[in-house]
Amino acid sequence: MQSCEMPSGARMPAFGIGTWRMGESGRRRAQELAAVKYALELGYPMVDTAEMYGDGEAETIVGEALAGRPLPFVVSKVYPHNATRSGTIAACERSLKRLKLERIDLYLLHWRGGVPLEETFEAFHRLREAGKIGDFGVSNFDTDDMAEATEVDRGLTASNQVLYCLSRRGPDYDLLPWMRQRSIPLMAYSPLDQGRLLGSAPLQKIAHEAGCTPAQLAIAWLMAQPGVVTIPKSSTRERVKENFDALAITLSPDTLAALDRAFPPPKRKQSLEML
Ligand SMILES: NC(=O)c1ccc[n+]([C@@H]2O[C@H](COP(=O)([O-])OP(=O)(O)OC[C@H]3O[C@@H](n4cnc5c(N)ncnc54)[C@H](OP(=O)(O)O)[C@@H]3O)[C@@H](O)[C@H]2O)c1
Repeated sequence: MQSCEMPSGARMPAFGIGTWRMGESGRRRAQELAAVKYALELGYPMVDTAEMYGDGEAETIVGEALAGRPLPFVVSKVYPHNATRSGTIAACERSLKRLKLERIDLYLLHWRGGVPLEETFEAFHRLREAGKIGDFGVSNFDTDDMAEATEVDRGLTASNQVLYCLSRRGPDYDLLPWMRQRSIPLMAYSPLDQGRLLGSAPLQKIAHEAGCTPAQLAIAWLMAQPGVVTIPKSSTRERVKENFDALAITLSPDTLAALDRAFPPPKRKQSLEML
C-alpha cells in the first residue's frame, strides 16, 4: 500500500474512505455504517471524517465501524469557529469520544476562519504533546495561507486537504509544487468531483481504452501523482470495492498523456476552489 512521509517523519497512507454526507439521515445510516465497515474489511488503510459531517454523526458511525478491528489511520477536522486555543482542545476531546479512540492520527483545521493561526497551532502542539493527536495540518489552504501556516507550525504542518481532481487541477500550478518542495503530502478531496466527473465523455472513453471504470481512472490518476493522497467517499458496497480496486491499476504513459490532453493542467494561477 502506497504511503507518504509527513514532515514529522511519520507516514500517512495514500488512500482512504471519505465520510462527508454520512450521518445526515437516519434512513441511510445502516447503509453508511456497512459501507465504512466493508471498506475496513477490504483493507482501506485510512478514514477521513470531521466534526462537521452529520453534526458529529459521521464520526460516531466511524467509531462504530472501527470497534474491534485493527485501527486504520484516522483523520478528523476541527471547525474554524471552534479553533481557538481552548476550543480546539475541547473539539478534539469530543471527536475522540465519538470516534471511541485515544488518538486521532491526523487532525486538521477544516478551513481558515477568523481565529489567529497561532492560537490553533498552539492547541495542536498541546494535543500532540498529550498524545491525543499524532500529526496536525490544515485544509482548504492556498499557497499564501500555507506560507503563513508554516511560519507558526514549528515545521510540523503534516498535510493540506484540498479540492483536487482531473476536472479541478488548479493546485497543479503552484500549490502542489510548493507542497512537494517541502515534502508535505496533499490530500485530494472530492476525487470524483462528487460524482460529476464520471459523466465526462473523454474520461469514459479513456477509461474504456484503459480497461477500467471512469471512477477507477480518476482515482488511479491521483494515486499516480507524487505526494498526493486521496479519499473517495461511497456509501455503496459495490462502489467501495470498485474504488479500492483502482489501487491495483498502473496507468500507462499513453493513458496519462490522453488525460493531460482531455483535462489540461492550468497555465496560470487559479485561486483554490472549495466545496
Ligand atoms: N476538507 C474539506 O473541505 C472537504 C470537502 C469535501 C470533501 N472532503 C472529504 O473528501 C471525501 C471525498 O469527497 P466527496 O465526498 O466530496 O466526493 P467524491 O469522493 O468525489 O464523490 C462522492 C460521490 O460520488 C459517488 N461515488 C463514489 N464512488 C463512485 C463510483 N465508483 N461510481 C459512481 N459514483 C461514485 C458517491 O455516491 P455513493 O455514496 O452513493 O456511492 C458520492 O455521491 C469526503 O467524503 C470528505 O471526507 C473534504
